[in-house]
Amino acid sequence: DTPELVDRFGRVGRDLRVSLTDRCNLRCEYCMPPEGFDWLPTPQVLSDAEVVRLITVAVEHLGIREIRFTGGEPLLRKGLEQIVAATTALRTDQGLVPETSLTTNGLGLQRRAAGLAAAGLERVNISLDSLDRETYATLTRRDRLPDVLAGVDASEAAGLLPVKINAVLMRGLNDHEAPELLAYALRRGFELRFIEQMPLGPPEMWKRGEMVTATEILDLLQARFTLSAHDPAERGAAPAERWTVEPGEGHPGGTVGVIASVTQPFCGACDRTRLTADGQVRTCLFSRTETDLRALLRGGASDAEIADVWRVAMWGKKAGHGIDDEGFLQPQRPMSAIGG
Ligand code: GTP
Ligand code: 5AD
Ligand code: SF4
Repeated sequence: DTPELVDRFGRVGRDLRVSLTDRCNLRCEYCMPPEGFDWLPTPQVLSDAEVVRLITVAVEHLGIREIRFTGGEPLLRKGLEQIVAATTALRTDQGLVPETSLTTNGLGLQRRAAGLAAAGLERVNISLDSLDRETYATLTRRDRLPDVLAGVDASEAAGLLPVKINAVLMRGLNDHEAPELLAYALRRGFELRFIEQMPLGPPEMWKRGEMVTATEILDLLQARFTLSAHDPAERGAAPAERWTVEPGEGHPGGTVGVIASVTQPFCGACDRTRLTADGQVRTCLFSRTETDLRALLRGGASDAEIADVWRVAMWGKKAGHGIDDEGFLQPQRPMSAIGG
């Protein structure tokens, strides 16, 4: 039993991203069509106990130290608090509580932030693409901005810190708001990260030549803020490249991140493995193959057997996403069914 998840390029998996549902209560343009997708049938979705079992295997047999809960929208999972509590009851190979975090659109956090914190959740990343109610409603196709902002407040009050805010910029829709979003995040003491749009949603929504690039985002920000890059040695496997923002008119100083998945891929340092809501391991967001752990689990496999299969899957992880390769194909599942 090697206690690690390693691939043939020497990368070690330490971070497990667990998708708890493929459903969502928003319809962000870059992510889903207005009608949504054909959701996974309930019997195919792992139960709370099955999710916890696979997380346990990952932590106890495979050296996983961080668990991120994603979706779809993970707050649509009623058992989320129980899953978090069971996860924080585990101990890693270093004898520590696994680090836990949640990536969410924020709807429902107002009611659940305190309970999630009580269950042991450490922090949240909340998607917020606009602070303008109309723009938010256009981009997400739902008029829910006030609910999200209440969720942000509740997360901070519950101590789910640091609160990180994720924003995807779409040309002509919300890209003009980048400085506004940053000023808001700085005033609130949140870490905002701008994310380059990836080809993982409706195929017609992504065009390499139209996407707002990291370079453009930094140009937009530098017109109003003074930024200095962090030491690259601090970055580790983090997707975000971080910058210090000097205090300025109407805002204190802070940190901003840019996640340049497309133009500056960070695959060489990737430490992630992924589990879909229906129990498939994906070694990369862009994998074209999956490994079925649900069948093993439901067939009565032992923890050690499941761990072995997961290790074999990891060994097959590709070097990178290949978005710029000729003949690149989007994965069969959209982002919402993979987990961001
Ligand atoms: P922390 O900084 O540790 O909070 O996490 P994070 O930035 O990895 O998490 P989050 O779920 O907030 O993701 C932010 C963006 O980064 C999303 O668009 C993710 O899809 C993207 N992202 C996260 N992990 C990966 C990855 O392994 N590869 C790529 N290409 N993008 C990723
Ligand atoms: N490209 C980049 N980021 C995306 N997200 C959702 N779809 C995409 C995409 N195609 C973002 C969400 C959320 C995070 C998990 O990923 O806005 O903040
Ligand atoms: Fe890791 Fe794949 Fe993301 Fe690259 S695209 S960082 S390999 S998950």
